Amino acid sequence: MVGKIVRNQKLNDKYYLLEIKCEEFVREAKVGQFIMINTRHQDYTNDPLLRRPLGVANIEGDKFSLVYMIVGKGTRLLSECQKDTEISFSAPLGSTFTLLRKKRTALLAGGIGIAPVYWLAKTLKEAGCVVDLYYGGRTMDDVVLLEELKETTDHLVVTTDDGSAGIKGLVTDPFGENVNSYDQIYACGPKGMLRAVSEIAMGADVPVEVSLDERMACGLGACLGCIIYVKEGDETLQKRCCVEGPVFDGSKVVWDTVCK
Ligand SMILES: Cc1cc2nc3c(=O)[nH]c(=O)nc-3n(C[C@H](O)[C@H](O)[C@H](O)COP(=O)(O)OP(=O)(O)OC[C@H]3O[C@@H](n4cnc5c(N)ncnc54)[C@H](O)[C@@H]3O)c2cc1C
Ligand code: FES
Repeated sequence: MVGKIVRNQKLNDKYYLLEIKCEEFVREAKVGQFIMINTRHQDYTNDPLLRRPLGVANIEGDKFSLVYMIVGKGTRLLSECQKDTEISFSAPLGSTFTLLRKKRTALLAGGIGIAPVYWLAKTLKEAGCVVDLYYGGRTMDDVVLLEELKETTDHLVVTTDDGSAGIKGLVTDPFGENVNSYDQIYACGPKGMLRAVSEIAMGADVPVEVSLDERMACGLGACLGCIIYVKEGDETLQKRCCVEGPVFDGSKVVWDTVCK
């Protein structure tokens, strides 16, 4: 697919918000899915060769948004893309979050894990759910879009490792105190955090879905570079994170194979 950049806004030194116009994509995309984006904006080069996976952070009208963090060459090149540039991507890809109506939900985001959680929060709110968001980052620079998130949640709890924004400490601490009050839990963020969230949820017997940011090369199920292991009954099965995921039942993921 090809879309046109409407804005590529710097949120702070690490994070950007990229808004792309593409009618075809917004018709097809579902909450939790991702795209593989071509970060080359100069046609005469083929570096970086591989497209980069990014979660869909919001859809409004004929536009969709991505929130991305500068990590390496691909995301740096993306940050240089100008308004009105045409950008190509493979999409929509991967599995989706289970959507519920009128339930009490807890959403957890760690750092850039906020991207798919933002759209999920908005969708659940529109479906009449109570949406409590626990959002943790290392420092105040790692928690973005707080004003927007206040509007799409009933209760927003921010934590940072150094206390520079919100409560000092881990995002799992305030969540753990309230876990019994929810019907469903969703999370996206670092693998250690997703494992901890899943274990807390399982201890309270609350269903939990996690979105895993495995390293991906093709994003299309062909290279088998994104395999994780999942329990199904007595069996342990291989799953491709890009096709059967990125959203998985957190109680079934074999975390030792993910958190290496
Ligand atoms: C399903 C999914 C959704 C994602 N959503 C977002 C998002 O919404 N916002 C965001 O900022 N980041 C997201 N990521 C992580 C993002 O893809 C990487 O940060 C990005 O690919 C880094 O590319 P780079 O060229 O800047 O860095 P480089 O370090 O140069 O990347 C080199 C290679 O490693 C891969 N890679 C590096 N880090 C990661 C990572 N954490 N996860 C997966 N692949 C990685 C790249 O795709 C590339 O093939 C997501 C990852 C996955 C799998
Ligand atoms: S990234 Fe190639 S199979 Fe998943």
